[in-house]
Amino acid sequence: MIYYFSGTGNSKWIAEELARRTGDEVTNLAEFINDGPASVFAGMDETIGIVFPIYAWGAPLIVERFCQSITLAPGAFAFAVCSCGDEAGRAMKRFKKFYAYQSAWSLAMPNNYVVGFDVDSSELEQKKIHAAREKIESIAQAVLSHTNVYDVHEGAGAGVKTALVRPMFNTFARATKHFSVDETCNGCGLCARICPIRAIAMEGGKPAWVRKHCTQCLGCINRCPQRAIQYGTGTTKRGRYYFPSTQKD
Ligand SMILES: Cc1cc2nc3c(=O)[nH]c(=O)nc-3n(C[C@H](O)[C@H](O)[C@H](O)COP(=O)(O)O)c2cc1C
Ligand code: SF4
Ligand code: SF4
Repeated sequence: MIYYFSGTGNSKWIAEELARRTGDEVTNLAEFINDGPASVFAGMDETIGIVFPIYAWGAPLIVERFCQSITLAPGAFAFAVCSCGDEAGRAMKRFKKFYAYQSAWSLAMPNNYVVGFDVDSSELEQKKIHAAREKIESIAQAVLSHTNVYDVHEGAGAGVKTALVRPMFNTFARATKHFSVDETCNGCGLCARICPIRAIAMEGGKPAWVRKHCTQCLGCINRCPQRAIQYGTGTTKRGRYYFPSTQKD
């Protein structure tokens, strides 16, 4: 089984592309958690994979929490793949504390962090997706042959970023009070339906953020068809991104 977490579709696409090549199945780990207490067992000779995006040079807290419910039997082959705009820092080395994988990879994918930066140019988005597709092919081969690999682009200052910036992000940068919605919202409810932690409720035909903090997956802001959602004032002039093949309504 390949479990994934994904705000804007990159990690979901990676999980699905891998599963297609390895004959595996995929499960959205957020739905798994929302449906009740998660408990996952990977037996001897079984293969288990986790695919997720990098947030501030770390794994999302929801993914760490999910991994604490996994039991790996001796002989199970465990792997992890992260998707990031550019660099993962020491995220995957830290992640091993939660999930004792044999192999780990990073894949550069289009940037979705519109709270901090603009989206990539469409040329760069296509270039990253093309390179990722080729790398997925080699990851699938390594998974099928149970080869031990650590192929993660950590980037400069990786240790400091993961040790210092990641916890600051988790403490200070996940507040939902900065989300707002303008008059172009047509009340379609997509943002509430796709929020992986059910932090959005439709109230009077408009979304309301009903939890103080969220995972900051940025699915709501990037996928709103009306571009009606902002986070503070910085996002008004920035683009939006999601992986088109993963639309679900
Ligand atoms: C809150 C947040 C923090 C991010 N931090 C990083 C980062 O530290 N390094 C990086 O290369 N990309 C970072 N990104 C970009 C995403 O990791 C990247 O776009 C990823 O492929 C998105 O995956 P998804 O579509 O499955 O959600 C961040 C994105 C978000 C939303
Ligand atoms: S997705 Fe956009 S248009 Fe639809 S309810 Fe949410 S904010 Fe409104
Ligand atoms: S509120 Fe938006 S950014 Fe936060 S978890 Fe839900 S969909 Fe993701």
